Amino acid sequence: MPDSTHTLLNAMTDKDLGTPPSVKETTISVVIDGRSIDVPEGISVMRAAALAGTDIPKLCATDSLKVFGSCRLCLVEIDGRKGTPASCTTPVEDGMSVQTQTDRLAKLRRGVMELYISDHPLDCLTCAANGDCELQDRAGQVGLRDVRYGYAGDNHLDLETDTSNPYFDFDASKCIVCSRCVRACDEIQGTLALTVEGRGFDSGISASVSQPFFDSECVSCGACVQACPTATLTEKTIIDHGQPDHSVLTTCAYCGVGCSFEAELKGGEVVRMTPHKHGGANSGHSCVKGRFAWGYATHQDRILKPMIRDAIDQPWKEVDWDEAIRFAATKFKGIQAEHGVGAIGGVTSSRCTNEEVYVVQKMVRAAFANNNVDTCARVCHSPTGYGLKQTFGTSAGTQNFKSVEQADVILVCGANPTDAHPVFASRMKRRLRDGAKLIVIDPRRIDLVRTPHIEAEHHLQLQPGTNVAVVNALAHVVVTEGLVDEDFVAERCEDASFERWAMFISDPSNSPEALESASGVPADDIRKAARLYATGGNAAIYYGLGVTEHSQGSSMVMGLANLAMATGNIGREGVGINPLRGQNNVQGACDMGSFPHELPGYRHISDAATRESFEKLWNVSLESEPGLRIPNMFSSAIDGSFKGMFIQGEDLAQSDPNTEHVVAALEAMDCVVVQDLFLNETATYAHVFLPGTSFLEKDGTFTNAERRINRVRPVKPPLQGLSEWETVCRLASAMGYGMTYPNAAAIMDEIASITPTFAGVSFAKLDEAGSVQWPCNDATPDGTPTMHKDGFVRGEGQFMLTAYVPTEERSNRHFPLLLTTGRILSQYNVGAQTRRTENSKWHDEDVLEIHPSDAETRGVREGDLVALSSRKGSTTLHALITDRVPPGVVYTTFHHPESGVNVVTTEISDWATNCPEYKVTAVEVTPSNMPSVWRQRREERRKNSSRIDAAE
Ligand code: SF4
Ligand code: SF4
Ligand code: SF4
Ligand code: FES
Repeated sequence: MPDSTHTLLNAMTDKDLGTPPSVKETTISVVIDGRSIDVPEGISVMRAAALAGTDIPKLCATDSLKVFGSCRLCLVEIDGRKGTPASCTTPVEDGMSVQTQTDRLAKLRRGVMELYISDHPLDCLTCAANGDCELQDRAGQVGLRDVRYGYAGDNHLDLETDTSNPYFDFDASKCIVCSRCVRACDEIQGTLALTVEGRGFDSGISASVSQPFFDSECVSCGACVQACPTATLTEKTIIDHGQPDHSVLTTCAYCGVGCSFEAELKGGEVVRMTPHKHGGANSGHSCVKGRFAWGYATHQDRILKPMIRDAIDQPWKEVDWDEAIRFAATKFKGIQAEHGVGAIGGVTSSRCTNEEVYVVQKMVRAAFANNNVDTCARVCHSPTGYGLKQTFGTSAGTQNFKSVEQADVILVCGANPTDAHPVFASRMKRRLRDGAKLIVIDPRRIDLVRTPHIEAEHHLQLQPGTNVAVVNALAHVVVTEGLVDEDFVAERCEDASFERWAMFISDPSNSPEALESASGVPADDIRKAARLYATGGNAAIYYGLGVTEHSQGSSMVMGLANLAMATGNIGREGVGINPLRGQNNVQGACDMGSFPHELPGYRHISDAATRESFEKLWNVSLESEPGLRIPNMFSSAIDGSFKGMFIQGEDLAQSDPNTEHVVAALEAMDCVVVQDLFLNETATYAHVFLPGTSFLEKDGTFTNAERRINRVRPVKPPLQGLSEWETVCRLASAMGYGMTYPNAAAIMDEIASITPTFAGVSFAKLDEAGSVQWPCNDATPDGTPTMHKDGFVRGEGQFMLTAYVPTEERSNRHFPLLLTTGRILSQYNVGAQTRRTENSKWHDEDVLEIHPSDAETRGVREGDLVALSSRKGSTTLHALITDRVPPGVVYTTFHHPESGVNVVTTEISDWATNCPEYKVTAVEVTPSNMPSVWRQRREERRKNSSRIDAAE
């Protein structure tokens, strides 16, 4: 598309063709109203007519759902056939001749519409859907002028509206029981929350067991609202503000799925986010966050003016941009003059665009003159980068999301897709309902283990911290039971590395039996799961932070890669290794050179040729030694040698482990600059606050978990007056390194000019193609959906030895339980955005899941306040008693700063990348009757440090 506005082209490609496409590639010839047309074999008459340009009236059919055939509005006449078959349920046949418009059909259709309209409120002019209602359109289309039956008979006009869901209403009086909502919930979302209750005249839509939507199993994905052809299911924003007048195509800024949305606006304000039917990652689906939780962008807590202060116990002073930039640059330069160039550094954010990240790492390397740049991926997916680079040669997942549709066996390890990657989870669940087998490796019984029409074949419920023991045991079975794909290994992998690995892994110490006591997983289950993975057809691995956030995170990533290579499950559709990235742009932030040892495109800083090319482009000389990682920056700050930090859109004081240590480091610095939307926890310790932009104001790109580069388009100008990349350029320039770009597109052009995997990427290309998956260059101008097809990026795949080493974090008499952490659907990461939306109605505090037997021995009852204590610290949470966690394991989320879960987590980290071991902390849980000391101290600090003296 040429620009950000919705064009006629979009309107055409968005057209609802009534029934889904065919998978067949052959075409046949049909005649529609006397016009001959070639169409794919297997489609419906309705779709064929739509392709021929003829819209047959329809109500129960839509091309995103399977055909249903209930409304009888789409009748047609077919030469040589009796009667008037429904066009949506009738497949085309070669030579078929169809009439879609005859007097007989018109009469029948009007009759059907009359029945609908006689039991429908006639308030079109004041209805929220006026102008966007299929029922209204169909009445016009069939030429309905009168209702012969009158409106006085039995009807449903007095049914009440369910307003319980915070984002949409259900007005039952307008329901035509077409069942599109039920089918959307079943087929697209896979929650199966809706049913048609009753029969005939008494039939109606019911959420769970006739419950209000809010209390039902509904997860507010919005698929039913999207599918509803009437005003029955309508967004509250549309009811409040009316229909949008234009739209802008952009990308969700929450998770690594990277769903495309039409931001629909009325004037300058967003009134609805509609999932884009042709979105490469989401194909028209959404979750509650992207679809509804965007109100934070204009929340009153947003800071719109730059602020400065000399010390963190002073009130903030609002200043203009120039003064704020000057203040920060002077402080940073002063620190460097006194403590050396290496005394400052920067952290990039996976919440920001590729362009925004690129300029921060460039500022650190060129203006700060060091490599002290790191990113929040340090604490999530850095082991993915390391592990996949070692084994395959590139730090990224191997497939696109669609690939799961070809998988026969799906292995989900340390990931909880229904909560953390919901739209991909829906796609995966569709494949599982269609017959793929599921293996789950997780200490907790995540939803996928048993959910409507899905049951995991194997749930390997391991002890936290024993991933590597389990993956080694799986691989042991593959090797010792002769399940290795010898041809694949011989052709595609390094012989020597395989020989070495095969010898190591077949050692009896790696057998399921030997590792059973460590992992807690019965050896027999491991053996069966390994056989299924190796012999069940296409086997695909999906993993998350439950793999990476361990002392052996990198080993586990390599262990999974070994398993995939040994069984030949790599390099085609339906297989592969797929890290489910947490934040929207984790992949991109890593791609853009955010690590202290790597320039954009994962090229080592010590490589002279690479460095030289950047030096030439940036006209600067670069330091050849890697800089400090985030944990090193913190410990150096406490030691007194690191004094200043630029923090882009990350709340380190909430998200990083061992909060007291982080706070001590931040307090020890002379200049902390925070660029963010809100005064977050980290800003409590900052000296400069540079207001950031929400995704609705950003112009740039995000790269999702499939390496898909999506455009993020501004729907409004930055509320605080400056793009984030522009702020960073100004700071770099004030530091003495002139950095300017005319626009964000020029930054991407520079990235493409210096990064081989991005060489073919530009805003123009993305506008034209929608999105591309890198590598995108001369060799692969349309991008690369599946990697390592004919060979690994590093040449031959390398098997790596992954000896299981138990974590140092052990339970003992004082801390007998193991805490593991994760996310919940309605909240997102540190909750900065979602806590400022109605999503908090579902989850307004982090709670501690504890097994009934552990609760009982401690005298803990449901809802009790409990103290959660580790060797590092203590906090308080309310208890939720559940057998989702096994005895000995407790679980919580980390979305709310008040719960301070990271006060208890430790600094133990991955041996290769320093990714913290969030997933294993030895703790004790005891009944409590007051908030933790830490919590009280936090409130005191916040009170002292969040005062703002407004500018005159
Ligand atoms: S709520 Fe909408 S989609 Fe569902 S049955 Fe009623 S009219 Fe159809
Ligand atoms: S919002 Fe989603 S989960 Fe809820 S009923 Fe509708 S389709 Fe089902
Ligand atoms: S699945 Fe992720 S990217 Fe998609 S709408 Fe939800 S939060 Fe946004
Ligand atoms: S659209 Fe064909 S029966 Fe409803």
